[in-house]
Amino acid sequence: MSLSSVLVSAITTAPDAQAAMTDAISLLKTHLPHYTWAGIYLLEGDELVLGPYLGKPSPHTRIPLHRGICGAAASQKATIVVDDVNSDPRYLACSLETKSEIVVPIMLGDAVLGEIDIDSDRPAAFGDADRTLLEEVARALATRLAPAAAPTVD
Ligand code: SME
Repeated sequence: MSLSSVLVSAITTAPDAQAAMTDAISLLKTHLPHYTWAGIYLLEGDELVLGPYLGKPSPHTRIPLHRGICGAAASQKATIVVDDVNSDPRYLACSLETKSEIVVPIMLGDAVLGEIDIDSDRPAAFGDADRTLLEEVARALATRLAPAAAPTVD
């Protein structure tokens, strides 16, 4: 089974959205050694709020949409890959060792629900395979994070 299939299966069968996010981050971090930090931000109003993550604690637990690479990806509703974070003026530092970053929005139609954020200690660590995998993971997560997917209370 491909890593992508393992991830989609884990996300779709997790008991709830929180478990789906936690399992996805755990699988990504375990299987991909160049993923030094892996986390999910959820959009709340006009701020991205840090959810499940693995790696060093980040000082950026709430990021306004106009700040950081995270804010840019959510505002532009597009994946952003930064090969050298230290040469990107948008970059908000999480760890001094981080060299490159990929941020993939989790979209439901035109609405941003959140995003997957991955940092690497390797420069230019993220290629087409990472983008394809993470965009598939984001599509699977969107089905679990969508308001309609939340349990209803009678
Ligand atoms: N580097 C991100 C901030 C989040 S930390 O990397 C976890 C940014 O520039 O938005």
